[in-house]
Amino acid sequence: MAEFSILREAGVLVVLGTANGSRPSVVFAGPDIAGASAEELEKLQAPQHIPGGPVQPIAHSLSNAIGTGWPSAPGLVIHQEETCWAVDPRVTNVEQADETSLTVNCFDPIAKLRTAHHFSLCPESGVLSTFTEIESDRSPFQLEWCAALCLPFDDRLTRIRSFSGKWASEFQIEEIERFRGSFLRENRAGRTSHSDFPGLFLGSDTTDEQSGLAAAVHLGWSGNNRLRIDTGQDGSSILQAGELLLPGEISLGRYRTPELHVCWSCEGYGDVSRRLHRYARTKIVPQNAKPRSVHYNTWEAVYFDHSETRILELVDKAAEVGAQRFVLDDGWFGSRRNDKAGLGEWWVSREIYPGGLHEIVERVRNAGMEFGLWFEPEMVNPDSDLYRAHPEWVLGVEGLDQIASRNQLVLDLTRPEVRDYLFAKIDALISEYDIDYIKWDMNRDIQHPGDADGKPAAHRQTHAVYSLIDRLRKAHPDTEIESCSSGGARADYGILRRTDRIWTSDNNDARHRHQIMYGASHFFPLSVLGNHVGPKKCHITGRQFSMEFRAASAIFGHMGMELDLAYESEEDRTTLASAIALHKQHRELIHSGELYRLQTQDCLAAMGCVAKDKSAALFSCALLDMHSTTTPPRLRFSGLDPSKRYRTRLVWPERNVSISSPSIIDEANLYGDGTGFSGGALMEHGIQLPLIMPDTCLIFHLRAEN
Ligand code: GLA
Repeated sequence: MAEFSILREAGVLVVLGTANGSRPSVVFAGPDIAGASAEELEKLQAPQHIPGGPVQPIAHSLSNAIGTGWPSAPGLVIHQEETCWAVDPRVTNVEQADETSLTVNCFDPIAKLRTAHHFSLCPESGVLSTFTEIESDRSPFQLEWCAALCLPFDDRLTRIRSFSGKWASEFQIEEIERFRGSFLRENRAGRTSHSDFPGLFLGSDTTDEQSGLAAAVHLGWSGNNRLRIDTGQDGSSILQAGELLLPGEISLGRYRTPELHVCWSCEGYGDVSRRLHRYARTKIVPQNAKPRSVHYNTWEAVYFDHSETRILELVDKAAEVGAQRFVLDDGWFGSRRNDKAGLGEWWVSREIYPGGLHEIVERVRNAGMEFGLWFEPEMVNPDSDLYRAHPEWVLGVEGLDQIASRNQLVLDLTRPEVRDYLFAKIDALISEYDIDYIKWDMNRDIQHPGDADGKPAAHRQTHAVYSLIDRLRKAHPDTEIESCSSGGARADYGILRRTDRIWTSDNNDARHRHQIMYGASHFFPLSVLGNHVGPKKCHITGRQFSMEFRAASAIFGHMGMELDLAYESEEDRTTLASAIALHKQHRELIHSGELYRLQTQDCLAAMGCVAKDKSAALFSCALLDMHSTTTPPRLRFSGLDPSKRYRTRLVWPERNVSISSPSIIDEANLYGDGTGFSGGALMEHGIQLPLIMPDTCLIFHLRAEN
């Protein structure tokens, strides 16, 4: 008699085959099928014999271990010298902690290897979190690969939406058709990386934002990783994700994979994202009831050219436009006058700030703002007191030249004395200045993660970073932390368990930012995605945009600014102040509402946040290029209650931007009291957008009247 373990929450059903002595397997995982029993689901996937094939067809299992004979990529690769390479763990028992989580324990008696597969299904979002632990008494084993899970998925999911990118161009979407063979993404950057985000969306040929079968996976891990989909001869597909291990990196003992988060929906990519957002907000990001403070960051205003007078002037100007947190970026410490020196010297530069940062911090607090400070703890410049005192404290491989990258080397955080040094320095500064916020940066890939004994240490380095952050958080529970890595190269649920927001990208080009936010919003709620107003002429793309456009483009996200306010005209500062006020007015909706990405032509980027009870919504629609038709496309809203009437108003820009009339702006009195439209009409019929110039961002506010 077959035995099953079942998790069923929030419209998701996971059925595992867990009969004692059997290979543990996924019988079904996906959107719930009302009335379906585990027995019938198993029967419906009865194996089909192939002439000339194994008498008993080989079924997939949670590890697809080599000993099972699984013909495609194994999810567990382990050996002991030349033996015990064909392991085949079988179920010994299942521990069901409660209705939402369970552990399937397995054992291979020959290799004396225990595996434990943990599953928990979030009741609010239906997101499945899973990881695998392995342990052996017969150490040393060499572990080469252990997937968090081998996950079979619905064969209708034929489209892979992957997320790639580079510095200043994160979260770029690539869509490909699933194919026979292996889709493989490997990241060896030693951080989450710009180029290989450890997550995917999957959809059918007809899935879109609002409808159709969709799924997403994301590995919550900030180090090397591998993600693969193998489509076998029989057409079935298995997805695996896990940590990419360097040769000889793990000899068991015990190993635990990073967590894999999986989400399904029958209501399109949009619903998958909303489920992931709910999950991230409630289960991942540290809980903080405070509204998210609007940032002012000094980086693009002064770079390394710090002076107390300049910074004090910026403090005043930031407060005037409505900033609530002042973040002093790189350049405030030690001999750090450019990016060639000083990393590791975590003390205030007396050359620049003779009296320390006290005057600045006092001015910041008097202006009602919080104070934030930039650190890049994991790094050291060879030209620094720290490196001169401890050249042995860096990661590297004996006999190989260090690979130069932004003039900095990576500290070996697996050494307790290095962690203690960093903890002591950061802890002392937090205490001295009562720092509210840390921007924790990490600005290079790690190509040679070797420790003092010559062993590979990428895995331990990632855990050591986590433990250092955890220790600081424990010592300073009220200090918030941002994860930055040359922009968005360390954005994942692993780092987000211990940080409050992500610096999404160094690229503050307002036009480009819409694209980056669109991609990032697939996995992350807007509340954690830092989004800044940049200088008029973008420092990265050289393109110029009005303040009206720049400011509006930063409203949807964790808003901030990073520009020389002393250089901006008074008129532009007034516009910026209005946009910040608008953000604050609707911040709750933006940060706790449900996100709807709108399907539009490529010349537009549009998304909206809808209150959970559908009583209000804020939509942003940016025209990023010329449209090919005489009039712009219609805009169809999403996520509204079709039976409610919504008073619809244009709340940004503050002047009438229609370049010709009549237009919807006049006809519906959008700048006045607005007009009530039914949710159904706004979603199904949509509105004709007014004729506007490219690089204009319209923000609509909708309030339910009934
Ligand atoms: C990285 C960050 C930037 C800034 C600089 C400082 O590039 O992404 O925001 O903090 O470092 O050196």
